[in-house]
Amino acid sequence: MSRILVTGGSGLVGKAIKYVIETEPEGSKFGKQPGETWIFASSSEGDLRDPVATDALFEKYKPTHVIHLAALVGGLFKNMKYKLTFLRDNTLINDNVLRSAYTHQTSKVVSCLSTCVFSDKVEYPLDENKVHLGPPHESNFGYAHAKRMVDEEFGCNFTSAIPTNVFGPYDNFDLEDSHVIPGLIHKCVLAKKNGTPFVVSGTGKPLRQFIYSRDLAKLFIWQLRHYDDVEPLILSVGEDEEVSIKQVADAIVKEVGFEGNYVFDTTRADGQFRKPASNKKLLSLVGDFQFTPFEQALHETVKWFLDNYDIARTGSVKK
Ligand SMILES: NC(=O)c1ccc[n+]([C@@H]2O[C@H](COP(=O)([O-])OP(=O)(O)OC[C@H]3O[C@@H](n4cnc5c(N)ncnc54)[C@H](OP(=O)(O)O)[C@@H]3O)[C@@H](O)[C@H]2O)c1
Repeated sequence: MSRILVTGGSGLVGKAIKYVIETEPEGSKFGKQPGETWIFASSSEGDLRDPVATDALFEKYKPTHVIHLAALVGGLFKNMKYKLTFLRDNTLINDNVLRSAYTHQTSKVVSCLSTCVFSDKVEYPLDENKVHLGPPHESNFGYAHAKRMVDEEFGCNFTSAIPTNVFGPYDNFDLEDSHVIPGLIHKCVLAKKNGTPFVVSGTGKPLRQFIYSRDLAKLFIWQLRHYDDVEPLILSVGEDEEVSIKQVADAIVKEVGFEGNYVFDTTRADGQFRKPASNKKLLSLVGDFQFTPFEQALHETVKWFLDNYDIARTGSVKK
């Protein structure tokens, strides 16, 4: 019997894991297995920056396994603005969750890092051995340092995943604080609705690898069940699948059906130019895995946003 607690269960990645667990056939590779109970916790169940609340959550559910996603998360501009808050909140959350998992004898924890934690001064492609090589990029110093520490704790069967940029249904579509894809989708939808220009921050030249949240969800489920190493594992599409921000914006314009004026605001920061990560280790372990094509994933995400605009996280803006 397994009780699997997903912290951050109400966020982009948590909702995707819930979707996969609920929609894949029971007993299948990524579906719910007999004897499994899945618990998806949001911050309303307990503020994980607080050690007492964290302990109470573990006491309530007594999880045998944990997928630890809860974090203060944001895109480039939010990370640059609140470096110290990112460091403090995420350090507290990670320390509390790992300590409670340890004291409650949780048999396995998969924590979540990000390719943002790597230095931009390392040789590409990024791989699992380079997490601690060199300082993180200055744009996300706080987030990166807090995240890097999760693989330093306790010496138990506590491991971590390193996803690249994630997008999908239930993302944060705030115009300033979000990641690039949900922010641009929201901007483009508003530009179409209001007949205003679609303005993309930066030059459009940086390159990124994007993973669809529902693909990432399957990989997390696989890692929880089958990966028994403490060393982190990069969960990503291939390093040959980098796309430029301009290509992303073009695809969004097409998907949204925007026909107005479309420009780049080159006075805004670009962030790190590229950070290609290798998924060689993942592919050698997971076997045959079909990633959703980018256009299809984008189509599903835009459709979800339009169908769910009233409940989507859009910050204070509902124009
Ligand atoms: N999105 C990406 O591109 C990306 C890329 C690489 C790695 N990651 C990592 O993936 C994980 C999930 O990210 P996401 O994109 O799903 O983020 P998200 O949509 O912003 O969700 C964050 C989740 O964390 C919870 N949370 C935040 N602060 C909390 C607190 N103090 N106590 C308890 N719960 C708290 C939120 O709960 P509420 O809903 O109640 O606020 C929410 O469920 C994070 O660890 C992130 O660092 C994300």
